[in-house]
Amino acid sequence: MRAAVVASLLLSAAASYYIYQPLPGAVAEPWKLMLLDAVFRAMFRVSHFAQDLGLGHHLHVLNYMVTLIEVRGPQSSETVRVTDTSFDGVQARVFESVTPGSRRLKRGVIYFHGGGWALGTGRMRSYDLLCRTMAEELDAVIISVDYRLAPEVHFPEPYNDALRACRHILRAEVLALYSMDPERVAVSGDSAGGNLAAAVAQQLALDKSVSVGFKVQALVYPVLQALDFNTPSYQQNGNVPILYRTNMARFWLEYLSGDMDLVPLLLANNHTAVDQSQEAMSAAKAKTNWTALLAPAFQKHYKPVVPGLGSPGLLEQLPALLDVRAAPLLAEKEVLKLVPPAYIMTCEHDVLRDDGLMYAQRLEEAGVTVTSDHYAEGFHGCMVFGFWPARFSVGTRSMTNYIRWLEQNL
Ligand SMILES: *[C@@H]1O[C@H](CO)[C@@H](O)[C@H](O)[C@H]1NC(C)=O
Ligand SMILES: *[C@@H]1O[C@H](CO)[C@@H](O)[C@H](O)[C@H]1NC(C)=O
Repeated sequence: MRAAVVASLLLSAAASYYIYQPLPGAVAEPWKLMLLDAVFRAMFRVSHFAQDLGLGHHLHVLNYMVTLIEVRGPQSSETVRVTDTSFDGVQARVFESVTPGSRRLKRGVIYFHGGGWALGTGRMRSYDLLCRTMAEELDAVIISVDYRLAPEVHFPEPYNDALRACRHILRAEVLALYSMDPERVAVSGDSAGGNLAAAVAQQLALDKSVSVGFKVQALVYPVLQALDFNTPSYQQNGNVPILYRTNMARFWLEYLSGDMDLVPLLLANNHTAVDQSQEAMSAAKAKTNWTALLAPAFQKHYKPVVPGLGSPGLLEQLPALLDVRAAPLLAEKEVLKLVPPAYIMTCEHDVLRDDGLMYAQRLEEAGVTVTSDHYAEGFHGCMVFGFWPARFSVGTRSMTNYIRWLEQNL
C-alpha cells in the first residue's frame, strides 16, 4: 500500500516535471497549453525513437500517429455535405452547406491546413470541425486542399499542388458544379497553409489567363519568410509551445529540401550575414527589415541579429530562401498592389507573429486593405487546436472573429 502511494507520488512528480514548462504570464490557459505541448513533445520523441530504430522517417511516424488519432472519414450531416475528391490530381475534402430548394450561388473558401508543410491533413478532426462550422455559418462551400507533404516532396511541389488546385477550382465549370459564386471566392490557411494561401494569392493576381480571382485572402498566423530567425517574436517566443524556434527552422529545411545540419546556421542568421550580401539578398533583407516595418510596441527592446561573417555558399545551396513562392513577404511592391484585401491573424506568443505583422504593414504600404487581428494571449495554433485536451477560450474567440470577418467581407 505504502509502496503504491510512493510510486504514484513519484510518477505524478515525474509527469508534472515533464509537463511543466515556464510560460509567459499572459499566455492563455497555461496548464492546458502545457498539457497539449507535453502530448506533442511525447509524440515527437516517439517518432524520433522509431526513426532511430529504423522503423521509418520520423515525419511518417508522426503522421501515422496523427492519422490514427485524428483523421475521420467524410461524414455528412443534415446541414453540411462532406465529400472527398480531387482537383486536377490534388486531393481535397469538400464541405458544402445544404440549403434545400435554394438556387442561390454560394460563397467559396479554398483552405490550406497547417503543419509545417510536413504534417497533418485537411481530414483531421480539428480542420474538419473548422470547415464544417465555416460551411454552416457562411452558407458556403469550403474546399480543404491536401497538398503533398515533405519528406515525399519538397518546394516547389506543395506550392505547385496548391496553385494547381486553385486554378482548377476557379474554372467556370467547377464553380458551377458546386454552385459557387465566382465573385465570392476566398483563399485561406493557417501557419504553413497561410504561407501557401499568400503565395497562391500573389501568383494568381499576376496571372492574366485566370478570369476568376479571389475576392479576399485570410491568413491565420502565416509563415512568410526564412531570412530572419531573430525577429523580436522569434527572440521573445523561441521556447513558447507549441512551435519552438528550432522546430520552425527544421520545418523550413524539410520544406526547402535542405539538410538538417543547417539548422544552427539559420538560427544564427548566418545566411544573411553582411559578407554574404549579394544584391538579391540586400533587396530581400529590406523587405524583412523589422526595425522599419514593426511598430515600436512589437520591437520592444530586441536588437537585430546581423552577423558580420556568415556561412559561404548557403544561397547556392538553398536558392528558395529568396524565392517569393516560398517566402511571400519578399514580393515586390508592384505585386503586392495587385493582391486581394487581406485578413491577417497574429498571436503575441508565437515566433511567427512578426511574419504576419510585417506582411500586413507591407500590404498596407502597397495600398491593400488589411484587417489585422492580434491576440495578446494567443499562441501558435490556437485557432485550430481545440477539442482536446480542451478547447482554449482564445481559440474559440479567434475562430469566431475569423468567420465573422469572412461573413462581412466575402
Ligand atoms: C532598415 O530600416 C532602418 C530604419 O528605417 C534603416 O536605417 C536600415 O538601413 C534598414 N536596413 C536595411 C537592411 O534595409
Ligand atoms: C556562422 O558563420 C561564422 C563565420 O563563417 C562561423 O564561424 C560560424 O560557425 C557560423 N555559425 C554556424 C552556427 O554555423
